[in-house]
Amino acid sequence: MYPNQSRQHQNTTQLQREYLLRLQQQQQSQQNGTGALMSAQQRKQSAQFQHLQQLQQQQQQQLNLSNSSNLSSSNPNPNYPNQQQNMYQNRPALMASNNCFTLLPYKTRKDALRKSVLQKYDIVGYIASGTYGRVYKAKSKNPKNSSGIFAIKKFKADKEGEVVYYTGISQSASREMALCRELNNNNITKLTETILENKCIYMVFEYAEHDLLQIIHFHSHPDTKSIPEQTVKSIMWQVLNGVSYLHQNWVLHRDLKPANIMVTSEGVVKIGDLGLARKFNNPLQSLYNGDKVVVTIWYRAPELLLGGRHYTPAIDLWAVGCILAELLALRPIFKGEEAKMDNKKNVPFQKNQMQKIVEILGTPSKEKWPSLPKYPEYPSLQQFKQFPNNLQAWYQSIGAQKKKGLQLLSSLLEYDPGKRMTAFDALLHPYFLETPLVSQNIFEGQQFKYPLRRIQTDDSDITSSAPSNKRGLNNDHDPLHSRKRQK
Ligand SMILES: Nc1ncnc2c1ncn2[C@@H]1O[C@H](COP(=O)(O)OP(=O)(O)O)[C@@H](O)[C@H]1O
Ligand SMILES: [Mg+2]
Repeated sequence: MYPNQSRQHQNTTQLQREYLLRLQQQQQSQQNGTGALMSAQQRKQSAQFQHLQQLQQQQQQQLNLSNSSNLSSSNPNPNYPNQQQNMYQNRPALMASNNCFTLLPYKTRKDALRKSVLQKYDIVGYIASGTYGRVYKAKSKNPKNSSGIFAIKKFKADKEGEVVYYTGISQSASREMALCRELNNNNITKLTETILENKCIYMVFEYAEHDLLQIIHFHSHPDTKSIPEQTVKSIMWQVLNGVSYLHQNWVLHRDLKPANIMVTSEGVVKIGDLGLARKFNNPLQSLYNGDKVVVTIWYRAPELLLGGRHYTPAIDLWAVGCILAELLALRPIFKGEEAKMDNKKNVPFQKNQMQKIVEILGTPSKEKWPSLPKYPEYPSLQQFKQFPNNLQAWYQSIGAQKKKGLQLLSSLLEYDPGKRMTAFDALLHPYFLETPLVSQNIFEGQQFKYPLRRIQTDDSDITSSAPSNKRGLNNDHDPLHSRKRQK
């Protein structure tokens, strides 16, 4: 069909719908006793309306007749009914139309066929509470997929007092749904289905037994035991592989941090939580205009801290650099304190966070970062004391030795986003080419096992609309898991 044709067709359907609706309203007002006041014109339209209704009923009956005769015919191939039986094939197909007579029954029938989340899954327990809802561990009821374990992320409807308000689909949910259903990479968490039920959205993901935050916690508590080098390398390579895939497909993640990077029990890294992700090809306005604050503060790139309006995939690579540093040091490399927004929601300069970066990487200069003076917060930066680059000393202080590891880290923590290493190039970095080599299973060669994800089995009421005060390991008040999404 040519574009014009389709527009014409749409317009006709739209006009027809409006016309029928208007007629229907008029008929209702006639039934309510106002009919006596109808003009001759209105009476004519009302008669037309009744005629249209009769026509539709007749067509429906004929169609039913035609279908039943097809079924009872002796035609050897019911897929190709003979000419006579198919006498109505050129008539408009009622069930395929979206006019006011057929949309409602269609929707009712569809709703009746739709299975609810509890018809499809057994809820094992509650995993975590995040920014927009709660995550549950679930088991598929499908006998063909009886070993299927999933994580169901429930986006709650807005609740005020006892009444649940439906204010539409949150930006975070629509972003995650739109992107995840298209993305297909071994290092990105797979969305298997989305269920809309009682004004809540349930996104069903493949289940991941671990996440990087838990792994770091395991190695730092109760006593410190560093993560094996092969594990760090394998995690980093798979994270970069997932990020490279996102960037090649014009997607910025914008919230990379250990809590959002999961690992399956087979040792495969899965980047999750695309609630803040967005496409960056052809933006109609600056990315800053869409979301004023992106990336959890400790992983936020200097160009964002300095108020950059146009940023690039390089912001994700800065976060990846921070993650590499954290896997080696078992604590965040730049653990700044976040300045809160004021009442007018002005975005403050994150001075403390910038200070933490400058103390390790040295004060940035316009010689090394030529566009630096163009950033809105450059004057604030000029107030800072001058620091030399201490990254090498920091690297040695945490007991890391591999030179190539330090090279990769400093290429990722490069101040100038234009010079920062890309995910694609980082995958070929010499660090990954020397022994121990990267393995597909990040646990390969390990003599120990990570504890399983903590699940609260006493809280499995996934359909409850009441906000629970039970929290898992990860909760809104934990600075590692909290994310500030402000506009
Ligand atoms: N696929 C999954 N398998 C297991 N746990 C998951 C999965 N997805 C999320 N989680 C857990 O739930 C937490 C919150 O999920 P996330 O997608 O990050 O949502 P939020 O936007 O609320 O941060 C994660 O930090 C992780 O602990
Ligand atoms: Mg998250």
